[in-house]
Amino acid sequence: MKALVITRLSGPDALEVRDVPEPQLQAGQIMVRVAAGGLNFADFMTTKGGYPGTPPPPLTAGREFAGVEEKTGRRVMGYAQWAAFAEKTAAHQHMLWPIPDHWTDEQAAAFPVNFFTAYLAYWQAGMTATANDRKHRVLIHAVAGGVGTAAVQIGKILGVEMYGTSSSDDKLARVKALGLQHGINYKQHDYEEVVKNLTQGEGVDAAFEMLGGEHTAKSLRCLRPFGRVIQYGTATGKPPQLDLRAMYAKSSMVQGLWLTYLSQKREIMEPAWQQLSEWIAQKKLTPQIGHVFPLEQAAEAYKLLEEGKNYGKVVVKIA
Ligand SMILES: NC(=O)c1ccc[n+]([C@@H]2O[C@H](COP(=O)([O-])OP(=O)(O)OC[C@H]3O[C@@H](n4cnc5c(N)ncnc54)[C@H](OP(=O)(O)O)[C@@H]3O)[C@@H](O)[C@H]2O)c1
Repeated sequence: MKALVITRLSGPDALEVRDVPEPQLQAGQIMVRVAAGGLNFADFMTTKGGYPGTPPPPLTAGREFAGVEEKTGRRVMGYAQWAAFAEKTAAHQHMLWPIPDHWTDEQAAAFPVNFFTAYLAYWQAGMTATANDRKHRVLIHAVAGGVGTAAVQIGKILGVEMYGTSSSDDKLARVKALGLQHGINYKQHDYEEVVKNLTQGEGVDAAFEMLGGEHTAKSLRCLRPFGRVIQYGTATGKPPQLDLRAMYAKSSMVQGLWLTYLSQKREIMEPAWQQLSEWIAQKKLTPQIGHVFPLEQAAEAYKLLEEGKNYGKVVVKIA
């Protein structure tokens, strides 16, 4: 079968479409014929050897997909750690969800990682409980990206006041159409200053932080008392810095979020899916697809993410 293979750990140029043997099913796995794959920043990191827990090359790339179960013909979307960008993938039965009838394969391939991550960020921030005493505020970095656009749609449903950063006014305009109230172009403005001014010095309840480096410390300084930074990535490649003075001053905290870990906890994933699927049925969630590439041009798709030029999700067409 055809698969996108990471041949060396030297970045997107080492990706090749190759013929590989079909996967062998292990216990608890289901064979899926893949139609489309969702590209994640983690896929780019994996091509450079920068993603923890990944086996050495040659390795079939890809961590989320949409397709049909070979045996039943059921349309499914799924999450994996690798081997999703191939004509067939052996999927774990608990990491498959039915594709909503009104969604295309591309939309479904753009769902699992972005929406579970965004939902669990709100959950960790304590914002998914129904009775809130006051309107919550959140700062969302890379608000126009895959996780970012999912977070805006969920934040709108939860009634959260959202502040989002991006390098581009065009991207911010598109996310505002989804419900973002306050867009901040960080190339033109210091987001710490903007948040301080717009919240009359109070700050936000949570910051969804995926940049690392100085941005963890800056995001801590954007918080309200008892607020939390949900740290879920380090796209700058730099280790997160803390601002302990800001943490002491406001009893604030930094909490990690890693879907690879949380996805193994069915007691967390099942209620999350229950809520997400309810919102999908109410047509309140629509994965935002900015770009679709054929598998043969996957390297270009990866480079778009590397350069931060994407809006929403980048999808790779497989069948
Ligand atoms: N912990 C988890 O379980 C988990 C799950 C999913 C994703 N993540 C992390 O969340 C982040 C977003 O992932 P995603 O797949 O949804 O990607 P994405 O947000 O669609 O794309 C990355 C975006 O980040 C912004 N950016 C800012 N600084 C960047 C830099 N130095 N290099 C590249 N991009 C930069 C760019 O947007 P602007 O130009 O608008 O700034 C770019 O479009 C990544 O760090 C990823 O590793 C973590």
